[in-house]
Amino acid sequence: MDDTTKVLLRAARGEAVPHTPVWFMRQAGRSLPEYREVRAGIGMLESCRRPDLVTEITLQPVRRHGVDAAILFSDIVVPLQAAGVDLDIVAGTGPVVASPVRTMADVEAIRPLEPEAVEFVAEAVRQLKRELGPTALIGFAGAPFTLASYLVEGGPSKHHVLTKALMLGAPDVWHALCTRLADITRTFLRVQVDAGVDAVQLFDSWAGALSEADYRRSVLPHSASVLGSLSEVPRIHFGVGTAELLAAMSEAGADVVGVDWRTPLDVAASRVPGKAVQGNLDPAVLFAPWEVVEQEARRVLAEGTKAPGHIFNLGHGVLPETDPDVLTRLVELVHTV
Ligand code: CP3
Repeated sequence: MDDTTKVLLRAARGEAVPHTPVWFMRQAGRSLPEYREVRAGIGMLESCRRPDLVTEITLQPVRRHGVDAAILFSDIVVPLQAAGVDLDIVAGTGPVVASPVRTMADVEAIRPLEPEAVEFVAEAVRQLKRELGPTALIGFAGAPFTLASYLVEGGPSKHHVLTKALMLGAPDVWHALCTRLADITRTFLRVQVDAGVDAVQLFDSWAGALSEADYRRSVLPHSASVLGSLSEVPRIHFGVGTAELLAAMSEAGADVVGVDWRTPLDVAASRVPGKAVQGNLDPAVLFAPWEVVEQEARRVLAEGTKAPGHIFNLGHGVLPETDPDVLTRLVELVHTV
């Protein structure tokens, strides 16, 4: 299928579009009964390693909602496990790491990612490309900071205290860690691009915990080394609570900057001149009456016109309790406005 027919890619490049493209972070997941059915009894990381299951789960929200993009079903910790890090995803908690990374010796034990160790991802991408037609396929990875946060804390964290203590107190260990993580992330995204994904999203979900100065000094160079290696596909760069980091995140090399619901898209657009934006309906708004959802979605669409391109999305992932019918209706609305 010719790229020019993929509306999402046109919006990412700031070209004219027949309608605003829309997809949802975490569109594949517990909000869908068909997802809960195929995942029954299969662990999260186990399901990510089965190409047939990855393909089926990735396609579910495309069939149901008619979104303009599928996002590969996987997780940001998949390449870490494939590189030999002992970790698991615990339902309702998130990634849990057996031996947290705190010292230079811990960093040196992290091996590079061999592309063959994620061959299951390449296989799923090839299957999906055969199925998807005009729907774009987005590949993704976690950015070095967000991955480092899980490795250093040992699991999900509210304040990222140990991560920041390492970043500020042992910058040599920090940079060595992020250099290795950037290397793993580059390889993971390269495998996806070579297998045929149309665009990539780098999730630096927890970067919003940082000041701009710390972000620029300790994080941006590593994310830039990832994004700079992938210039053949549109690159989306996303984090939560990043209002003050949007300019710096766009400088890391993104074509599209993802924005959460705290920053109106017209404000975001003024902070990332020349770049497309993605977002940013509050996922909690989907629990309000439809009239409110429609009003908020129309506001987001109007504010998005201030950027050269707009990809409609939520400001963060779909919450598991979301009514999937509201998402379907929202896609119809975005396509007709
Ligand atoms: O539809 C999609 O967006 C694609 C699939 C996807 C998953 N994880 C599947 C998943 C994507 C893009 C991710 C990325 C991811 N994983 C991020 C960055 C995105 C973000 O939310 O900011 C982060 C921080 C993680 C780490 C992680 N993995 C968390 C915090 C959790 C949730 C824990 C829980 O159970 O609430 C996971 C598990 C996970 N990853 C699930 C899914 C569908 C839920 C597991 C399940 O269904 O059993």
